[in-house]
This record gives sequence, C-alpha cells and structure tokens, in this order.
Amino acid sequence: MSAITGARVTQPRPAAVVVLAAGEGKRMRSTTPKVLHHIAGRSLLEHVLAAVAPLGAQRQLVVVGHAREQVIAAIAGRAPDVSPVVQDTQGGTGHAVRVALQATAGIGPDELVVVVPGDTPLLTSATMSALVAAHIRAAAAATVLTAEVSDPSGYGRVIREPSGDVRAIVEQLDADPATAAIREINTGVYVFTAGPLIEALTSLTTDNAQGEEYLTDVVGALFAHRRAVAAYPLDDPGEALGVNDRIQLAAAGIVMRDRIVTAAMRAGVTVLDPSTTWIDVDVTVEADTTLLPNTFLHGRTRVAAAAVIGPDCTLTDTVVGAGATVSRTTAADSVIGPDCVVGPYTHLRPGTHIGRGVKIGSFVETKSAQIADGAKVPHLAYVGDAVIGERSNIGCGTIFANYDGIAKHRTVIGADVKIGSDTVLVAPVQVGDGAYTGAGSIITEDVVSGALAVREGRQRTIEGWVQRRRPGTAAARAASSRASTGDGAGADGPVPVADGPVPTADGPAPAAVTIAGSAGGGRRS
Ligand code: UD1
Ligand code: CA
Repeated sequence: MSAITGARVTQPRPAAVVVLAAGEGKRMRSTTPKVLHHIAGRSLLEHVLAAVAPLGAQRQLVVVGHAREQVIAAIAGRAPDVSPVVQDTQGGTGHAVRVALQATAGIGPDELVVVVPGDTPLLTSATMSALVAAHIRAAAAATVLTAEVSDPSGYGRVIREPSGDVRAIVEQLDADPATAAIREINTGVYVFTAGPLIEALTSLTTDNAQGEEYLTDVVGALFAHRRAVAAYPLDDPGEALGVNDRIQLAAAGIVMRDRIVTAAMRAGVTVLDPSTTWIDVDVTVEADTTLLPNTFLHGRTRVAAAAVIGPDCTLTDTVVGAGATVSRTTAADSVIGPDCVVGPYTHLRPGTHIGRGVKIGSFVETKSAQIADGAKVPHLAYVGDAVIGERSNIGCGTIFANYDGIAKHRTVIGADVKIGSDTVLVAPVQVGDGAYTGAGSIITEDVVSGALAVREGRQRTIEGWVQRRRPGTAAARAASSRASTGDGAGADGPVPVADGPVPTADGPAPAAVTIAGSAGGGRRS
C-alpha cells in the first residue's frame, strides 16, 4: 500500500460515497447487469461497497439505471444501508454524479464526496483510505486515483502540469496520438470537495466523441478555475482493473483468487496448487489445513484446523471440523464433524450434519441427514431424511426410500445398528439400537432394538439350466467341462430336467415360479 496512510485516524468521514452503476455493460452480453456479475462469491458491486465501507461515509449512494430493478433488489438484499438513486437515461458519468447529488440534501461545501465506478472490484479499502488522506493533505478540490499501466487503451489519460497537478483527463476516443501515448490512466475513482464539484458539474457539456457528460471534464473545469487537482497513483495498478467484458471478469477473478489464496497461505494454510484453488471472500480456513488441487470453497464455508480438503472438492456454505479429510466431494449447507473421512465421490446435500469420526464413502449421497459420531456409510448409498445413531454401519447399496411420490418421510436408525447390504428402508420407519437387517431386505415396518429383520425369498437352484437353455455359449462349455472332469454340479450322468418353467431370455419368469416372502422357509441356519 501507499506511504500516505498515517492520517487515517483523524480522517473525517466523507459526506457521501457515490457508486456509479447505471450503465448497461453491453460488452458483457448478458441479461444480468454488469455490476451483478460475481467473482469470489460477491457481485462486482458488493466488492466495491466493501472497499468503501470502512470510509464510514454518511451516505452511500448507488446510481442505478439499466436493469435497475435487479440492481435495487440486490442492494436491498445484501447492502441495506445503501441508497439507490435512479438515473433515468445514462447521460454519462458526470450526469450520473449530478443526479446523485441533486437527490441528496445537506452536503456542506467543504465536505468530501467520493466517487467510484461499480465495476472495479479489485479496489481495496486501504487504497480508498489513503486516497482520502492524500486529498486532505493536498487541500485539493479533487484528487484522482491514477495508475501507470503498460497498456492504457480504453482508459482516460491523465494530463499533468509540470508542477504535478492534473490539468485534464482526456478520454481515449477524444485523444490525439500524443495524448493516447500517455500511460498514466484515470481509474475512475475520485475524492472531491463538494462545493467545487457541484459548481463544476454545472459546466459540463456533451461536446465530445461519446456525446455524454463526462465526469472527467470536471477536472479540466476545476483546473481552469485555478482549483488544485491532485493525482494519487496506485502502487499496484492492477487494483484499477475495470470489468467491461467476460475476459476482464475472468482476469479480475484470478487476481482476487490469488489475493485470497496468498492470504490463506500467509495464515498457515498449505495450498498445493494456488492456481486451481478458489476461495470466496467470506470463507475461513484455519491454520495447518491442506487444500489440494481443484478445490472450490464457496459462500460461508468454514474449515477448521488441520483438515485436508481435495482434490476436486466443491464445498458451499459447509462447515468442516478439525482434522477431517474430504476428497472429491460436493457439499452444500452441510456440517462435517472433526476427524471425519468423506469421499472420494461423495455428495452431501443441504441439511447433512455428520458428527465426529464419521466415514462417508464412495458414491454416497446424503440429504437432510443427521449422522452421529463414529457411524459409517462406506459405499454406494442414498441417505435422505434420516437420523443415524452412533457407531451404526450402513451396508453397501442401502437406500433410504424417503419419498412416496407426495411427501418425504423420515427414517430413524438407533445406535450400534448394522444395516445389511442392499437394504431398502421404506420411510417412515425406525430401527432400534443394536438391531440388524439382513442383506437385500426391504424394511417397511419398525425393527425393535436387538432384532434381526430379514425379508428374503427362498433361493431356487436349477441345475443344468445353462447347458439346456444356453447351448454353445462359453458359459455352457465352461459348465460342461467342469461336469466332464467330475468337478461340478451334475457331474454324474445326464443333466437333470428342471421341474418347472424357468426364466427365459424373452422375459421374466412366469409368476408361478416367483418365490417371494418367507413362506416355505429357505433361511440358512
Ligand atoms: C470511465 C472514465 C475513464 C476511466 C474509466 C476507468 C469517464 C468519462 N471516463 O470510462 O476516464 O479511465 O472509467 O474505468 O468517466 N455510468 C453511470 N451512468 C452513466 C454512465 C456510466 O452510472 O450515464 C457508470 C457505469 O455503469 C460504470 C461507470 O459509470 O460503472 C463508468 O462508466 P463506463 O462507461 O464504464 O466508463 P469508461 O468508458 O470505462
Ligand atoms: Ca468501465
């Protein structure tokens, strides 16, 4: 940051911050207004508002115009202290500031007005404070935040006097070749003293290449009236990046990512591949956590100390406890307890709360599920609208059938339960502490504590079926050779003929041979 920061403590609060956000942002080619496009979990406008908030201005005004309903709704939702001011037609940046000040009574002539574009998300609050301090020190009528850039195209050029004062700002479209070659550009961020600003705004014309009232012409008007206009150059010109198209949106997103990831590393987080680690501004990650490649931490996600996240994780508004390991997982609105192991290939949907030391394994999807300490859902399961008690184990392939086509129902599993592989738990249903279910069971009735619930059909084995019904296949040859070596079923003599219809390739077995329920026994013992 710049050297001029010392005056901040005694710095007066500006009377107003005016954020310009009425333009259409045509080059975005979007139905979403430009300032509502997001990087790092916030809209461009929210980033700008966050940068100016510490100035403590008495009023924060956002000039809205194009798609104003969307912008006003976004402001109301996320920044209720901010007042929108409508600019009906977009007559230029100078017109926008005039409209904002006309809508605002009671600003004294010596008070400060800060102007910022709504599309510069990389501005920092440190820079904003330093700019205000510089303005006060220079006792200027206006102070322009400038940047020295290698490619100034598209920006207004800053014309300085030999004294260093700013004489004018000339827009690219109005610049002659000598002016266009100047590499000090106008960032579009200014501090004005209100009296001279208001006066200069009355002198603006539309006599320029774009037929607009340029705010930049205020600078020339002030200079003509012998009012001092100072320039405050950015240490890091990258802060000035204005987002006008999707390419600049991506560029700003990358800068923001690098800032956030760098801050995380400084705070003790190991990041294996910073370029593929994306962390939103409101995320917290504690020290000694490791973030592996392709990790996206969104929203209000919080990761406690010494966790390992990634590779390939997308966690949104999710809390991860200390020492947890989460790999190849998508999670939203979920809580993962300390020392859990989640993934790979796991989907935790909203309302998943898992306790300490839980294992949630591959191809498991959860939703509205409370899974207590030490429980395990190791593989291939859907757990929806469920409570699972401590240390219970949910077998491979288990489905919590929660939806009857009209309503969702809950399944409650007690502690130390063993749910057999491929169980279907048809909610609403409860399984008591210490109970078991048999593999492949469909559980529609409550299972009391300590019981084994099974629902199994009797297995029917039809010997020689393959040789008869699938002659000439590899399976038939394999079966026959086993038979001829005396090593298989039916080794002695001819293949027995099945005593009834069997399933065929043409369709399911006739109902007569379907063996259902537990009639006739069939339990192994
Ligand atoms: C402006 C500056 C240019 C500077 C650049 C920095 C002017 C004339 N030019 O150019 O010197 O280098 O910013 O990024 O000021 N807006 C309104 N109402 C309007 C017109 C614009 O609210 O009538 C808003 C836009 O939504 C945008 C901001 O003002 O947020 C800047 O407008 P834009 O058209 O992007 O100006 P630039 O051409 O980038
Ligand atoms: Ca712009």
